Amino acid sequence: MSKIFESEIKSNVEVAPAIFKLEIDAPELAKLSKPGQFAQIQLPSETFTLRRPIGIASTRKGVKMFYRVVGDGTKFLSTLKEGTTLNILAPLGNGFSMHYSHKILLAGGGMGLAPLLSVAEKLREVEVLIGGRNKDEVIFWIREFVHLPAVRSIFVTTDDGSYRYGRTGFVVDYLPEIMASSKFSAVYTCGPDVMMHGVALEAIANGLPCELSFERRMACGLGACLSCSIDTINGRKKVCKDGPVFDAKEFNWD
Ligand SMILES: Cc1cc2nc3c(=O)[nH]c(=O)nc-3n(C[C@H](O)[C@H](O)[C@H](O)COP(=O)(O)OP(=O)(O)OC[C@H]3O[C@@H](n4cnc5c(N)ncnc54)[C@H](O)[C@@H]3O)c2cc1C
Ligand code: FES
Repeated sequence: MSKIFESEIKSNVEVAPAIFKLEIDAPELAKLSKPGQFAQIQLPSETFTLRRPIGIASTRKGVKMFYRVVGDGTKFLSTLKEGTTLNILAPLGNGFSMHYSHKILLAGGGMGLAPLLSVAEKLREVEVLIGGRNKDEVIFWIREFVHLPAVRSIFVTTDDGSYRYGRTGFVVDYLPEIMASSKFSAVYTCGPDVMMHGVALEAIANGLPCELSFERRMACGLGACLSCSIDTINGRKKVCKDGPVFDAKEFNWD
């Protein structure tokens, strides 16, 4: 059940170039949220009428979100200081199913690691594949995942090879090797569509269930405006309400 929260910013710090970690004071939201759900943030300025959707990345010690500055809204968000009150509609969307009892592989690219972090906090056993453009864009994710009790292994890829303990290349390049090295009960993925496509095909080829978390431009975030619709084999679905998480077999890959 989503609600409006008036939550104070506890901190809003740059953790990599143009990537910010936002911590808000919202204990009730932390209790209500399921892994993979998101928030619609109303920016405190008349310039911005539409809320901005951001994933709820962590509820372990307060509510944390990670966002990349891409346009005017996220740029404005990055200027907000500790103590500012944000109006937040949350938690929204379905979240991951979380019904697998054995080890899950989490494969994420860029800001797609955010919902996967919330999964790793709640499950018993996971391995994590972190993909990013460069060293700066993977290091802060490694720091978030590495302390979680459920995390058994972390694999890293960077597009430019600048993280020397990881591989050069993309998430999908590394995936077959990781899948062959351990027994997984499912794969959860979030990132660019092309990456998730590759991850889903690999999971299906290995007979594993796969859940994908999609990002689409949103307006209402509540299923009313249809701006976030995608095609599935079961017809048009709304990413904000029916998703953002879908079964890979349900998605229409045409
Ligand atoms: C379910 C969901 C979860 C998300 N989680 C995260 C996250 O954890 N971290 C993160 O960095 N980003 C996340 N995004 C993307 C984030 O919403 C956009 O980057 C952000 O809205 C851009 O706003 P802007 O004003 O800076 O950009 P502008 O391009 O100026 O935005 C113009 C309008 O388009 C919308 N928009 C632009 N890009 C996107 C996008 N990719 N997805 C949805 N709406 C968009 C904006 O909300 C705004 O209404 C998520 C998107 C969705 C749908
Ligand atoms: S954003 Fe309005 S229906 Fe999804």
